[in-house]
Amino acid sequence: MDHRPHYRTWIRSTRLAVFAALSIACLAGSALAPLSLWFLLFLVPFAVSGYIATILALTIHRFAPRGGDLQRRIHDLIVTRAGPATSGTALDVGCGSGSLVVKLARATPDNTVTGVDSWGRDWAYSKKLCEDNARLEGVSARTTFLKQSGAALEFADGSFDTVVSCLTFHEIGDLERKSDGMVEALRVLRPGGRYVFLDLFGDPAFYPSADHVRETIRGAGASIVEFDNLAGSLPLPFPLRHPKVLGHAMLIVGTKTGP
Ligand SMILES: C[S@@+](CC[C@H](N)C(=O)[O-])C[C@H]1O[C@@H](n2cnc3c(N)ncnc32)[C@H](O)[C@@H]1O
Repeated sequence: MDHRPHYRTWIRSTRLAVFAALSIACLAGSALAPLSLWFLLFLVPFAVSGYIATILALTIHRFAPRGGDLQRRIHDLIVTRAGPATSGTALDVGCGSGSLVVKLARATPDNTVTGVDSWGRDWAYSKKLCEDNARLEGVSARTTFLKQSGAALEFADGSFDTVVSCLTFHEIGDLERKSDGMVEALRVLRPGGRYVFLDLFGDPAFYPSADHVRETIRGAGASIVEFDNLAGSLPLPFPLRHPKVLGHAMLIVGTKTGP
């Protein structure tokens, strides 16, 4: 039996395996050039897939403890921004491996923290992994993990004192607009409660504009205290500041003002 928690990085290892295998296959194809120079065309997909595989491998390294521990430091930043509001009840939308839930629970001695996730096949995360991690970290009595979609949370309005979410809203598939995930998360935050959202808010593939994000939050009855690029709060080493990695990541912090 393993006695260490496992949090795993945000990069799906199958993606790295696919691009690494593709680049090896293309390189092997180009080695057939003595038979026909046409085989040299394999060098084009080799260059593309090799570049992607290199970025993915370096990203995994940077997120992991030996490469700078950026994933843990990003979660620490969210807990710091949640501040004194970590007491009471807290919710993490898209809790993955339970890492942020555990950190929130360990930040104060008497809070209770709930993590929800759809736990699909894309990541090696599961409810059991979260529960094992919480037990190994000594916080299982104050943590709960539930399979729920961030698109339609099964909680009453204003159920939580704090709501956080990290790199999840853009992943929620069954939404008309990605920003609707924020609206749903803010719905279950009590008036006066604090939220901390980190997502790819600067990526036009997911959110039309920063103004759209601001208006959505205000429309959901919340104030904005902080709205900044992640790199403004935490220096991001290469390749994490790449636009396809965390270059578009933004941190938004505020308080629910309305009902
Ligand atoms: C990049 S991971 C981030 C995980 C976690 N927030 C963290 O910081 O370690 C994205 C997470 O979003 C979750 N997710 C995707 N669609 C979801 C949905 N509809 N509802 C809740 N979670 C979802 C995935 O299962 C995955 O755990």
